[in-house]
Amino acid sequence: MGKQQILVIGAGGQLGSELTQGLWNLHGKENVIATDIKAPQGILATGNFEILDVLKEEAFSEFIRKNKFTQIYHLAAVLSATGEKNPKFAWNLNMNSLIQVLDIAVEYKIEKVYWPSSIAAFGPTTPKIKTPQDTVMDPTTIYGISKQAGERWCEWYYKNRGLDVRSLRYPGLIGYKTKPGGGTTDYAVDIFFKALTDKKFECFLKPDTYLPMMYMDDAVKATIDLMEAPAEKINERASYNISAMSFCPSEIATEIRKHIPEFEITYNPDFRQAIADSWPRSINDSAARIDWGWEPKFDLSTMTQDILKNLPALL
Ligand code: SER
Repeated sequence: MGKQQILVIGAGGQLGSELTQGLWNLHGKENVIATDIKAPQGILATGNFEILDVLKEEAFSEFIRKNKFTQIYHLAAVLSATGEKNPKFAWNLNMNSLIQVLDIAVEYKIEKVYWPSSIAAFGPTTPKIKTPQDTVMDPTTIYGISKQAGERWCEWYYKNRGLDVRSLRYPGLIGYKTKPGGGTTDYAVDIFFKALTDKKFECFLKPDTYLPMMYMDDAVKATIDLMEAPAEKINERASYNISAMSFCPSEIATEIRKHIPEFEITYNPDFRQAIADSWPRSINDSAARIDWGWEPKFDLSTMTQDILKNLPALL
């Protein structure tokens, strides 16, 4: 593999901002162009950054022609809870931007494309415990439907256009450097901020709602490991299950209380409860482990320690 020129779309988001830094470390800051529809915040502003709306076809195409990218990471999306409030907007952004990126990648002979799927691609009749790689998928949210359809588009471009496109079904991603926006798993991020600032947190999910989750460091590592793996090791061209931990709100509260004993949690479930109830409780990621050696580093305890050690300096 020669020198890489990397494009990150949606770099201002929760995953994008940390993944961009992971890509700086791997490929050199000068070889990564981060883009978003909004101006960059914090550390992102110190690297190459351009405002880019992938739905504006001509401008996007011109941008790709000028920059000679070898890889595209396409992360722009509306998440599950926000998507339910504005379904057509979510569908348009999530779906049409993907097709646009896949088309452009074929046209400009981009070597590799990354696109994230999610546990939201599963649904109420999917087996909930250790959800298999290949199983029933009946997503109930527009976000989930766009992820399920997107997986099929990725596989179609691989099979019919020879595009090296790779994908992961992320669980809820937990980081403290950039807050998520509009997801059902966001409570597991907000809880750390509120634990430090208010010593109490009102949760929008019930205490025993188990969901698969992953610390951001592991998510960045999984993404880069997948993209760096030799193409012949990638047997799954729709999207790989990946997993790190599963917990429910009462368990994360107990873990936080080991560090902040006075922390209190209350529960006031809203419309996001039904979304969470439709998703798996845990994930079988053996295909990712076997094919390209996936292994998470963080569990609930080590993640909680790391966040509570580092977040106070940012508040
Ligand atoms: N974290 C996302 C959400 O809650 C799921 O991929 O919408």
